[in-house]
Amino acid sequence: MILSIESSCDDSSIAITQIKDASLVFHKKISQDLEHSDFGGVVPELAARLHAIALPKILEECKPYFKNLKAIAVTNEPGLSVSLVEGVSMAKALGIALGLPILPIHHLRGHIYSLFINRPNSIMPLGVLLVSGGHTQLLSVKSYDDIEVLVTTLDDSFGESFDKVAKMLDLGYPGGPIVEEFAAKGAKRFSFTVPMRGSKKLAFSYSGLKNQVRLAISESANLDEQKKADVCYAFQKCAVAHLIDKLKIVLKEHAFEDFAVVGGASANLYLRKEIEGLCYREHMRLHVADLHFCSDNAAMIGRCAIDAYHLGRFAKEISVNPKKSF
Ligand code: KG4
Ligand code: ZN
Repeated sequence: MILSIESSCDDSSIAITQIKDASLVFHKKISQDLEHSDFGGVVPELAARLHAIALPKILEECKPYFKNLKAIAVTNEPGLSVSLVEGVSMAKALGIALGLPILPIHHLRGHIYSLFINRPNSIMPLGVLLVSGGHTQLLSVKSYDDIEVLVTTLDDSFGESFDKVAKMLDLGYPGGPIVEEFAAKGAKRFSFTVPMRGSKKLAFSYSGLKNQVRLAISESANLDEQKKADVCYAFQKCAVAHLIDKLKIVLKEHAFEDFAVVGGASANLYLRKEIEGLCYREHMRLHVADLHFCSDNAAMIGRCAIDAYHLGRFAKEISVNPKKSF
């Protein structure tokens, strides 16, 4: 079995995964949403302190599995440096105490492997739309090592733009699920323009859309619940349309038989529905992770670690790389 640790942002999580059949034996996650909600975003110093409390609590429950472990896996990149350090320190200490090797895991690769939790085989080659709080990327995934970035964002990420809109509307944190909920109650009142529509440039951009929302809010008198819902409705529609626009351009050059959406924001049901339609029209099979494995978790790190284990990716030195994207 592999014990995996995830602490790259504001979720403390540990999982135990069976190497032989990829079955998830144990998984627990303690989120810090409540603690950060007063600040409208993650406060790194607070996140690190909370990891230092939560991780040992979860580890206590893993003790019965210690004798079955073959390796310790840990997210070491990318993420908040002070948060990553908490998980990496615990992994190092466990490695020394139990005499086990360490497998450093890239957080974004972990999100891709969220698709294969509890499944012994992975599906590759695969086109992947990765939408998280820090990243918005369209990837061509051919193997564990062969991952090509086809499109990335010039500024804000998809998930981050939801967080910022929620903050502007004073709806709480994390913004994604709340904005989605409000959007479902909204109607057509505002109309925002889809970023970069008509441009063939292969890039995402969310800062312009965010500013359109800011302007609409400042020009709107009496921003009641219904108007807030209407802002969310128009924003979500545009944000997703932008992803679909760029995807359509990429699909002209890259024919994928299998396509996936991963990352925290892949839990958005409106996004899933739109991608489903696109996949149907383009004759691609769509793959998504279970809803509770979309946001950060150690189960995806453990599943990814099985391939790292078979490839012998054990760390001699383990470093924390906060900015390391694909
Ligand atoms: O992957 P994740 O858990 O953490 C990072 O690696 O960043 O993604 C978190 C991001 C946040 O920005 C959150 O607002 C967004 O995913 N998110 C959503 C939804 N659920 C989470 N965005 C849109 N709609 C959602 N339902
Ligand atoms: Zn993530």
